[in-house]
Amino acid sequence: MKKMIIAAMAALMLAGCASPKQEEEKTPEQTEAPEQTGTYPEFNLDTKTVHLNSGFDMPVLGLGMFSLSPGQAENSTYWALKAGFRLIDTARIYGNEEGVGKGLRRAIDEGIVKREDVFITTKMWTSDYDSGDAAVEASLRRLGVDYIDLMILHHSQPSNDIPAYQAMERAVKEGKLRSIGLSNYYEPEDFDRVAEAVEIKPALLQNETHPYHQSTLMKEHIAKYGTVLESWFPLGGRGNTQTLFNDETISSISEAHGKSSAQVIIRWNLQAGNICIPGSSNEDHIREDYDVFDFELYEEEMRQMEALEKDQRFADY
Ligand SMILES: NC(=O)c1ccc[n+]([C@@H]2O[C@H](COP(=O)([O-])OP(=O)(O)OC[C@H]3O[C@@H](n4cnc5c(N)ncnc54)[C@H](OP(=O)(O)O)[C@@H]3O)[C@@H](O)[C@H]2O)c1
Repeated sequence: MKKMIIAAMAALMLAGCASPKQEEEKTPEQTEAPEQTGTYPEFNLDTKTVHLNSGFDMPVLGLGMFSLSPGQAENSTYWALKAGFRLIDTARIYGNEEGVGKGLRRAIDEGIVKREDVFITTKMWTSDYDSGDAAVEASLRRLGVDYIDLMILHHSQPSNDIPAYQAMERAVKEGKLRSIGLSNYYEPEDFDRVAEAVEIKPALLQNETHPYHQSTLMKEHIAKYGTVLESWFPLGGRGNTQTLFNDETISSISEAHGKSSAQVIIRWNLQAGNICIPGSSNEDHIREDYDVFDFELYEEEMRQMEALEKDQRFADY
């Protein structure tokens, strides 16, 4: 399948948007940032990456580490890299950054990946916002890496999220972080409040997103900054997965393709232009969640998935 252009996003072309300020010196892997014409970043499902407004490529499918113990995170990271995943999503508050680092080193030691093949995301927790520089250092130390591919602020917190973001901007300039972004900003005005106050526009917004809460409005809105959307709770989150897996539309599409409901939901995310990070501590599930590049949802099926929107969140935060 050729480059997938997110057709729906074409309608989002907005003229005259601000360019993100780029680093003066680029690292070898970094290419030119795309022209900021106000378009949503384009997904390439052949390379399985998206080009961020920071100039870096990011895998469009990753494995999430929420609620995993450090030992589970180590194994899941290792299994994920073995299965083909090249994106791992963790956070300081999950308490498993060290486990992720161990899983990564295990995969490197066994020759499965090199550090530069893997994209690590972590998040700055709200109680660290007043000491953002130290929070970046602490995540680097716990992960055991000398740079982090993406750090995002975990939640909107108007009292001090801008200074926290500015600490991440300093870390970008020092080469400690490559891309930076936001998580849990659900109102366009709240996103703009930060995005307009900072130099480096957010590369990514990570919000609860799944077939019952498709984040369409926010995705349209962030296109003006060239920011990409990433789905957390793509399968509904622990305890809720059966609600989505047994949904009639999702089940019937899954039967038609001989794929599981989880795979259909993940594939829908990728075709809709959402980076997807299902979470799992089960090696079979991890392999299954990566096995989504050999089928495609038809236009009609994409429309049926879109029609599932209920503005229903599973998390209460
Ligand atoms: N920014 C934020 O505030 C925020 C909040 C929540 C989550 N996140 C991120 O988003 C990631 C995804 O969210 P999540 O992990 O909470 O929820 P999720 O991915 O929606 O669902 C995880 C659940 O799905 C199950 N599962 C995964 N693959 C499966 C498969 N192929 N078949 C059957 N069951 C499957 C897992 O069970 P098994 O372990 O048994 O596979 C687990 O119970 C997190 O891990 C985290 O990185 C971010």
